[in-house]
Amino acid sequence: MHNPDSTSLLVQASQDLRGTTAVPGDKSISHRAVMLAALADGTSEVRGWLAAGDTEATLHSVKALGVHVEQPAHDVLRVHGSGGLQAAEMPLDFANAGTGIRLMTGIMVGQPFASVLDGSHQLRRRPMNRIITPLAQMGADIHGEEGRAPLRIQPAGLRGIRYEMPVASAQVKSAVLLAGLFARGETTVVEPGPTRDHSECMLRAAGVDVQSEGAVVTLYPPQRLQALDFHVPGDFSSAAFLLVAAATTPVSEIRLTGINLNPTRTGLLDALRGMGAEIQVSEASMEAGEPAGTLTVKYRPLSGIEIGGDLVVRMIDEFPALMVAALCAEGRTTVRDAGELRLKETDRLSVMTQELRRLGARIDEREDGFVIEGPQKLQGADVDGHDDHRIAMSLTLAGMLAQGQTRVHDAACIADSFPGFAETMRSLGARVVSGRCE
Ligand code: S3P
Repeated sequence: MHNPDSTSLLVQASQDLRGTTAVPGDKSISHRAVMLAALADGTSEVRGWLAAGDTEATLHSVKALGVHVEQPAHDVLRVHGSGGLQAAEMPLDFANAGTGIRLMTGIMVGQPFASVLDGSHQLRRRPMNRIITPLAQMGADIHGEEGRAPLRIQPAGLRGIRYEMPVASAQVKSAVLLAGLFARGETTVVEPGPTRDHSECMLRAAGVDVQSEGAVVTLYPPQRLQALDFHVPGDFSSAAFLLVAAATTPVSEIRLTGINLNPTRTGLLDALRGMGAEIQVSEASMEAGEPAGTLTVKYRPLSGIEIGGDLVVRMIDEFPALMVAALCAEGRTTVRDAGELRLKETDRLSVMTQELRRLGARIDEREDGFVIEGPQKLQGADVDGHDDHRIAMSLTLAGMLAQGQTRVHDAACIADSFPGFAETMRSLGARVVSGRCE
């Protein structure tokens, strides 16, 4: 079951988390920043950039496309855009990054040269027809065997379309809008529910005319993109693990500074507050159209909640962590409308259910969600991160609530989005240490 070379985390029951910390830059914004900076005319400076597995893969692909990038510090990029890209000699490798491959595909279909976009075995399992279908409607020449990566693209003229998305996906919306940069005429995407709008915010910051009216987003192709100069706020989806840790560990109080608070991302705040958590927002600011602020969370006993509909999309990456909160909460937590979780880095409904059961949890897995009756006592055990960063971090939180020791195998993947996770947890008082598997 375990890869003997991967790094594991040893976790003990923890109490009384305290302190103030920041988290690494937002993953979604970092991907978009390096892509748009590569297309822009001039030098962009991106501070607070996330130097992690997923975003490094996008950075490598941009460099392979002939863009000169300096990295004066690990989290600062100076991207020298010349308003165009050059053909890469090799397939572009997006490792485990679904956002990287799907958004870059939107860009690559608009280029006057052929390209191949690929990734890890895990990424090759993920569905790509959701972007192939609308991009082909725009005129793109794109092929992926059985709707999977590797994606092979030949140059073709694009035309703007009006696309009504069958699933609420920011990656699909973004891929279509990015292709729209290179299309004849305007491109409109209609969302079935509100998804994260980082692409729209950053395209506007680059001077592109993007109009949003409710669920309808329209992009008018620009002559050129302006260079960017901004600071990436901390990733709410990384902060989410610290929020849940403090909300479930008596008698914690922690402060998280500089966190992105784009309302299309902060559904977990609504969910945790609905469960009785005490979370305050202060020091609100704006950067490149993105709201940020400080979050203070105090431990309070939690109760169960029902989650479905639009809230699911606003917290789509936070369900593995929410499952851990539900195990601590008094009463029943029911999640519906979350079938998309089965199409992430892993089938997160099935993998979380399977791994939490190793700790003794009782979970009723449903086709589009789960039901958990709490509170439940957990017992430390060996669990597996399945090469999925959010699974490995959520199992660490579960280990902090369990009696005895939990070993999270295959935890190296945490560096895909949150390098320094274990150190950050320790700085708040959690008993989490790295250990190689024997
Ligand atoms: C992302 C969109 C979401 C999310 C992913 C990042 C993005 O995926 O789960 O982690 O940056 O656009 P979907 O668009 O597939 O829902």
